[in-house]
Amino acid sequence: MNLIESIKRLRKEKNAVILAHYYQTGDIQDVADFVGDSLALAQWASKTTADVIVLCGVHFMGETAKILCPDKKVLVPDLNAGCSLADSCPAEDFAAFVAANPHHTVISYVNTTAAVKAVTDIVVTSANARRIVESLPADTPLIFGPDRNLGNYINSITGRQMLLWNGACHVHEQFSLEKILALKAQFPDAGIITHPECKQPLIEVSEFVGSTAALLKYTIDSPKQRFIVATESGVIHEMQKRSPLKDFIPAPPNDSSCACNECSFMRLNTMEKLYECLKNESPEILVDKEIREKALKPVIRMLEISERLGL
Ligand code: 13P
Ligand code: SF4
Repeated sequence: MNLIESIKRLRKEKNAVILAHYYQTGDIQDVADFVGDSLALAQWASKTTADVIVLCGVHFMGETAKILCPDKKVLVPDLNAGCSLADSCPAEDFAAFVAANPHHTVISYVNTTAAVKAVTDIVVTSANARRIVESLPADTPLIFGPDRNLGNYINSITGRQMLLWNGACHVHEQFSLEKILALKAQFPDAGIITHPECKQPLIEVSEFVGSTAALLKYTIDSPKQRFIVATESGVIHEMQKRSPLKDFIPAPPNDSSCACNECSFMRLNTMEKLYECLKNESPEILVDKEIREKALKPVIRMLEISERLGL
């Protein structure tokens, strides 16, 4: 069976749209209707006229699509595709943190469960977090969760003192600064480009910090010919497609015996599972109605502010 043709046929038959994150494998990115970062995935989900959304990404991305489109069927090829960052923020604990700081506006990274979004005032992604924080009055006390690295980074560039949740992503935290600096010494012309979920010492030696879409754009616009890419290595597929003559070096992890710069959750999705999921219309993402209705408000707020800011 030709998987690509079968997926395309089923997509048409079921009036489905396939949305893929840059951290998916290249074959999934190539068959998708849209490939983007977390913000773009939410924006596309909010606008699609398809009956079925297949979210090739992780669980929270499917939940965000379901929160925005409760009447559509939202599928994720492998329901076990979780997220260590979302897992680092259990909803009850986060709700207690929020309750203990009642005068704070609560900003949550999109990498959270629907239950965490339900106790949030504004959702952000790495593409809009800085601009959204800057759009709020300077004297508004803020809570930011769950990514401590992104929170620290935003505090450092905005001068805010947001209260931070102590969570992190296991992929972005494990890059080896020592090995990256050794690579930079070997290839002095290479630009180090980094996702803001990475630790501060790596961010400090980077010439550009941004969301996956921003990193991609930077590699297209920059006159540089070589980049050390400190984020999940799946994004290099699109970077290489857009700039075939440039050289992209995946930032090495601390542990050289593992492929730790690949997100094991993202990589649970495969072409076979994508085909099966379209065929069976399963596994489906479902979100409790009460939680979904509460979580919708901060997601819509993010989309509205992003539109106003031209993001
Ligand atoms: P962005 O899609 O905002 O770049 O975030 C990366 C990520 O870790 C998604 O899980
Ligand atoms: Fe979550 Fe990190 Fe994987 Fe993104 S790369 S889905 S933040 S575990």
